Amino acid sequence: MKIAFVGKGGSGKTTLSSLFIRHLAATGAPVIAVDADINQHLGPALGLTEEAAARLPAMGARLPLIKDYLRGSNSRIASADTMIKTTPPGEGSRLLRVRENNPVYDACARPVELDGAAVRLMVTGPFTEADLGVACYHSKTGAVELCLNHLVDGRDEYVVVDMTAGSDSFASGMFTRFDITFLVAEPTRKGVSVYRQYKEYARDFGIALKVVGNKVRDSDDLDYLRAEVGDDLLVTVGHSDWVRAMEKGRPPRFDLLEAPNRASLQALQDAADATYERRDWERYTRQMVHFHLKNAQSWGNARTGADLEAQVDPGYVLQESVAATA
Ligand SMILES: Nc1ncnc2c1ncn2[C@@H]1O[C@H](COP(=O)(O)OP(=O)(O)O)[C@@H](O)[C@H]1O
Ligand SMILES: [Mg+2]
Repeated sequence: MKIAFVGKGGSGKTTLSSLFIRHLAATGAPVIAVDADINQHLGPALGLTEEAAARLPAMGARLPLIKDYLRGSNSRIASADTMIKTTPPGEGSRLLRVRENNPVYDACARPVELDGAAVRLMVTGPFTEADLGVACYHSKTGAVELCLNHLVDGRDEYVVVDMTAGSDSFASGMFTRFDITFLVAEPTRKGVSVYRQYKEYARDFGIALKVVGNKVRDSDDLDYLRAEVGDDLLVTVGHSDWVRAMEKGRPPRFDLLEAPNRASLQALQDAADATYERRDWERYTRQMVHFHLKNAQSWGNARTGADLEAQVDPGYVLQESVAATA
């Protein structure tokens, strides 16, 4: 299951992603955690020291390796240089599975121990001014998008992406790559306005979008969120002393997290799991092709000097069953 946490900076995306990752890991499920946020803090939120987090390999710096591996023997993709962030898989492409070992994980993922369970952590690497453009060829999140477009994940396997709700993700199609998107919103006008913008983009693509209210203190906060986002409000999380203790560098055992917050994490998992039945690989593939054509026309063809539209394998549909036989 592919799950994104988006929202305004400071709303609590990283905090809630990290709690959700800990929650999933505690169930014994395999988890890949991905930090694609402008502010790279997921590593420390999962308990790494700043030094250890700084040593994590940056996906953004390993794009040639990622592209070469995923391209495999796909004859429609002449070289890694002509592979852009939206280039879809086709016959001959290599796919990624959550549970396997592969050269992409070897290069980009590192294990993080969480109360006995280990998750794999991948990070885009720090963002610069140039990364925040709309259609950047070398986009940091492009590495994540490529991986998601080549990933055949099943039920009870999780990829959790801590992500910014920025223009980069809307231009490329990144925001359509998830089974469910959790929009973290504080009960404020700014928090809610990010939700409205996201909802607007999401509408045309059938995105499953749910709001997680964060730093919700009282019934006035709750009423405000209910009035502003209606049925899209899934759960709320209050101030957490557990989180505060972790921020002081003294993380308590995860099973000591406050009961209401644990219940909220379970509700997030239930909502994510429930989307499995509605999965549509055909639509998933069609949307990646849609965004690839859009990117090819608007900048990719000009930038690479190739006809990127020819990379689309017309009969190809990404699907889980391929995972079992390929
Ligand atoms: N539920 C919470 N309880 C306590 N502190 C929180 C909570 N949610 C977020 N915070 C704190 O708020 C700050 C911003 O959260 P963060 O997750 O880094 O936001 P984002 O990733 O959206 O920018 C952090 O210092 C974090 O510890
Ligand atoms: Mg963050």
